[in-house]
Amino acid sequence: MENKTGMIKDIGTINEINNYPSVFDTIDIGKVNLKNRIVFPAFHTNYANPDGTVSDKLIDFYNAIAQGGCGLIFTGAAVVSSDSIAFDRLMRIDDDCYIPGLTKLFGEIEKNGAVPAVQLIHYGRQALNAVTGCDLIAPSAIPCPLMSQFDLNYHVREMTLADIERVRNDFIDATVRAADAGVKVVEIHVAHGYLLNEFLSPYSNHRKDDYGGSVENRARLIIEILEGIRSKLGSKIAISVRVSGDEYVDDGLKPSDYKEIIPMFERAGMDMLNVSAGVYASMEMIIPGPDIGETPYIGIAAELKQYAIVPVCAVGSILSLSAAEAIISTGKADLVAIGRAQVADPKLVDKSLAGREDDVAKCIQCGKCLFFNTGDPEMYCSVNPSLKPPKNE
Ligand SMILES: Cc1cc2nc3c(=O)[nH]c(=O)nc-3n(C[C@H](O)[C@H](O)[C@H](O)COP(=O)(O)O)c2cc1C
Repeated sequence: MENKTGMIKDIGTINEINNYPSVFDTIDIGKVNLKNRIVFPAFHTNYANPDGTVSDKLIDFYNAIAQGGCGLIFTGAAVVSSDSIAFDRLMRIDDDCYIPGLTKLFGEIEKNGAVPAVQLIHYGRQALNAVTGCDLIAPSAIPCPLMSQFDLNYHVREMTLADIERVRNDFIDATVRAADAGVKVVEIHVAHGYLLNEFLSPYSNHRKDDYGGSVENRARLIIEILEGIRSKLGSKIAISVRVSGDEYVDDGLKPSDYKEIIPMFERAGMDMLNVSAGVYASMEMIIPGPDIGETPYIGIAAELKQYAIVPVCAVGSILSLSAAEAIISTGKADLVAIGRAQVADPKLVDKSLAGREDDVAKCIQCGKCLFFNTGDPEMYCSVNPSLKPPKNE
């Protein structure tokens, strides 16, 4: 049996097509066709080179997931502005010099059978001045309750209209670079409390001008970015928007707020909605631990799907294809992002497709991959032997 990428699948395919028919149904995101509904969500690994270019380690990491059968792979997050280099080995896309490395990365992912995508980020107030070496900027000069604890000199300033124009252009220019490098889907990061999420949320946006107050004003910068991308690139690439369906903070965004927001994003050019949760002040909700249980955010994704025309992706402690099949087949989401479980075993999709679920190395949600919490220099995995710390601690 030959699949769309020309690779030969073993006979197990026939068996598992019956077990996961919804997962292995193709779907279009804008004009981009996906071979299945499994997504690898953006995962900052700190595997880029210190200058922000793509490293061999980064390519190997994503190639393994592409070879393992995943349909759509979000690389990144890649930072769009040079004033927001929040980690020492972040992927960068704020200059044309990053295009050759990105071209290689996206080309390899595609060669290995997956659709290459990239998430674009500006960290806003959720960074440290001591690391970025720049002013932290945000819609309002409200410190991040978490990051401000780590640096006595933490300081955030309210963005001027000139800052807003510059950031808008940075997102649009970064998208053009990604398209030049051959990406098929770009994701605008409007989740997890980063800059664009800060604009959208009444929790972090207290502006009194055209970019604050009403939901139309809070969404304005994101809409300008989406429209700017469309006017430069037409439908050459598909656009995903990642949001925190529930910020889990007082005065933060709740699922019902998206009834107004989603149609605005769709009119501006969004092709896919990727539903996550949490901001840094509710950090434990961004990457849910085992105590929260499996698939904790499906209710949020299902609610947002009611407001959406475009395909909706769910995420959060979805650890197996059976869980993904149950979510998609019951119409709660159109796609399922599996992060840590594909880090633990990049072949999760193909093994399950071949009826070898028992061979999947299971994510134990030990928290080892959260290098930014553990103090490790880069992402490790206690299950995947190819992502062990150098000394096998
Ligand atoms: C090490 C690590 C890095 C992450 N980096 C990002 C990121 O850059 N952008 C993003 O939107 N989410 C990021 N996330 C969140 C994941 O995309 C995903 O939403 C989360 O891990 C929950 O999915 P899972 O339970 O399938 O792992 C990261 C998660 C981890 C564990």
